Amino acid sequence: MATNRTFTMLKPDAVADGHTGAIIKIIEEAGFKIIAMKKTLLTPALAGKFYEVHAERPFYADLCQYMSSGPIVPIILEKDNAVADFRKLIGATDPSKADEGTIRKLFAKSMTANAIHGSDSDENAAIEGSFFFAATEQF
Ligand code: CMP
Repeated sequence: MATNRTFTMLKPDAVADGHTGAIIKIIEEAGFKIIAMKKTLLTPALAGKFYEVHAERPFYADLCQYMSSGPIVPIILEKDNAVADFRKLIGATDPSKADEGTIRKLFAKSMTANAIHGSDSDENAAIEGSFFFAATEQF
């Protein structure tokens, strides 16, 4: 896996509120290239699998319920220093702590409905991207 890729997912609140285009525009204008993208719906079981790492956390059930509540847009992105630069662009997990101008500051509603996901490491970016896209779609 190249270290210049990251994985993101526009979450149900952002998609349902019609912010897909606005968020993708911010991402592209920040220099990220779209490698793979689609609109899809997670079942509760698939959401549970994606967030398996959080299975012991108190917010896990709510998170899985929320993430399967409506369509999402998973995307693989490419840019130098992709993982770190993308996490800067989206801002803090808790939108009340997100910096001005970040995607979460602009669009997130709460800690759970926080508009967008960004991988926290190159390793997780590869795992998460492969959760949604076959190798033949990651060109
Ligand atoms: P994300 O980083 O995309 O993936 C894990 C998600 O769990 C995170 O976004 C938040 O939406 C959610 N999350 C993390 N911490 C908490 C928390 N303390 N309470 C509720 N949800 C949380």
